[in-house]
Amino acid sequence: MSTEGSCPECGGTGWRTVERNGIPAVERCGCVFERRRQSLEERAQIPPRYREASFDNFSIVTPNPVTSRILSNAITAARAYVRNFPFGNRKPGLLFVGGTGTGKTHLAVAVLRALIARGHEGLFFLYQNLLERIQRSYNKDSGAADREAYQSALDCEILLLDDLGAHRITDWVEDTITSIITHRCNHNKPIIATTNLRDPDAGDPPIPSGTAGELASRYYLEERIGSRARSRLSEMCQIISTRGAEDYRRGS
Ligand SMILES: Nc1ncnc2c1ncn2[C@@H]1O[C@H](COP(=O)(O)OP(=O)(O)OP(=O)(O)O)[C@@H](O)[C@H]1O
Ligand SMILES: [Mg+2]
Ligand SMILES: [Zn+2]
Repeated sequence: MSTEGSCPECGGTGWRTVERNGIPAVERCGCVFERRRQSLEERAQIPPRYREASFDNFSIVTPNPVTSRILSNAITAARAYVRNFPFGNRKPGLLFVGGTGTGKTHLAVAVLRALIARGHEGLFFLYQNLLERIQRSYNKDSGAADREAYQSALDCEILLLDDLGAHRITDWVEDTITSIITHRCNHNKPIIATTNLRDPDAGDPPIPSGTAGELASRYYLEERIGSRARSRLSEMCQIISTRGAEDYRRGS
């Protein structure tokens, strides 16, 4: 890790001397890009627990062949999205759908960090927290950070919205999330979202009757964000499903 003044390659100037066909020339030192990556990562507000999440530390080796196949498909699709970003993708965004603990947030952050490493700017928001901050910002004496949250969610280059729909729906919630998704959709700005709610487009079967099944998955995404937001989201996001994989937190 190099900081200004301590880079052995360039002595902190950001330029290093190289030789091209025997002629001395200067070029940008790698530490400049590394510093930019570090500063973009710091600004992305990734929670400490996921700060190191990457494709390399996402394991697809498990004793359960079904889980292995699901995770292997998911990581392949996520890597392809990064490779083709921004114009080679069919849709500008990604929606990770699946049960709890199946690695959705890990993979979503891995995608974001890989794009940040290529110089793109991204912001991580926990859905519930974003809504709370927007709500607080209506308050006269709210802090600048809360007031900026809504604007950043609308305008940042890449928005990672984690745990989409994890909030009881009200008219206000529906209007707010619809306006964020619509604005980003209209401006072709990517959203990378995760949710454990069900969606028929993700191949999720109908909600089983009775009390069986995970609590969170007993709702459809549409029921929690409204039909307009859900329909625009599916217009703009390629779905990656981890449904059916085992919960990694249970140490399977
Ligand atoms: N395949 C994997 N390899 C390595 N670590 C994993 C894998 N899957 C999950 N993890 C780790 O397990 C924890 C839970 O994963 P994660 O938070 O991504 O799950 P999730 O699908 O987002 O769950 P939730 O729906 O509860 O938000 C994280 O710390 C994550 O880094
Ligand atoms: Mg998650
Ligand atoms: Zn340098």
